[in-house]
Amino acid sequence: GRVIETPRKRVLLAKPRGYCAGVDRAVQTVEEALKLYGAPIYVRKEIVHNKHVVTTLQAKGAIFVEENEEVPEGSTVIFSAHGVAPVVHDQARERNLKAIDATCPLVTKVHHEAKRFAAEDYDILLIGHEGHEEVIGTSGEAPEHIQLVDGPEGVDAVTVRDPSKVVWLSQTTLSVDETMETVAKLKEKLPLLQSPPSDDICYATQNRQQVMKQIAPDCDVILVVGSRNSSNSVRMVEVAVNAGARQGHLIDFAHEIDPAWLADATTVGLSSGASVPEELVTEVLARLAELGFADVEEVVTVQERLTFSLPQELKRDMKAAA
Ligand code: F3S
Repeated sequence: GRVIETPRKRVLLAKPRGYCAGVDRAVQTVEEALKLYGAPIYVRKEIVHNKHVVTTLQAKGAIFVEENEEVPEGSTVIFSAHGVAPVVHDQARERNLKAIDATCPLVTKVHHEAKRFAAEDYDILLIGHEGHEEVIGTSGEAPEHIQLVDGPEGVDAVTVRDPSKVVWLSQTTLSVDETMETVAKLKEKLPLLQSPPSDDICYATQNRQQVMKQIAPDCDVILVVGSRNSSNSVRMVEVAVNAGARQGHLIDFAHEIDPAWLADATTVGLSSGASVPEELVTEVLARLAELGFADVEEVVTVQERLTFSLPQELKRDMKAAA
């Protein structure tokens, strides 16, 4: 008779995935602050854009607020990894808050670039997503010099004072390819446009997109663990689909997997955004195994070794308490 070979069902697990150095530091900052000062600790905005991280820290005594006004005078407040405008620091001082700044150092780097170019009176074109916290924080460094360019469609609306004195900067978690498209379009309009002194799209964003591109052509379905408001996670799904994955889905939790997605699939690609704890990926792997995808192959493109030390103001108090 005929031999029908059933194709081997497998999972391609992308690496690097999950926590970046900035997220790891921000989450640790809240945990250490809770240990050191005791609950409650106020956190302005989601410390990182992940549902599970936020609810876990809430259970430990973190209170998430939108603005400093919600924090009782004299309390401790932590600023999220996405960064804040200088005015937020001023408000905290006015309310006599003890502020701990968990802004990722790679976001701070972009703030410094913005300040420097603004001081030299450049027009700064900040490529990023309208309304994202990081973009609001960076723009706040020099609101009169910065205009937001939200993707290639935003280019037409750009106007500058002096076309020979203009620079582009970007949000750290954008799609590399789409950003290059935006820059190319900007350069048609402004041939003297200068580029940032170093990559603003951070190493973690770039690495997570690069491995997605590598595995996507072999995948019927790509699953990215991450929250809807996580820019880098959303970009990973887009990059995967653009690179040839037949379907891409963003999920917060394993139970969100619809078995129908996997009906005709033999290869499932799996990764997680920079704000996603590894335990959520482990749960997805367990669910995939139940659905017949028990065979897991890790695809590693680079090893990430970067780590950041905790915010100075916290380290000082930890040392004093030791
Ligand atoms: Fe920082 Fe990039 Fe993570 S900017 S918080 S290292 S995604």
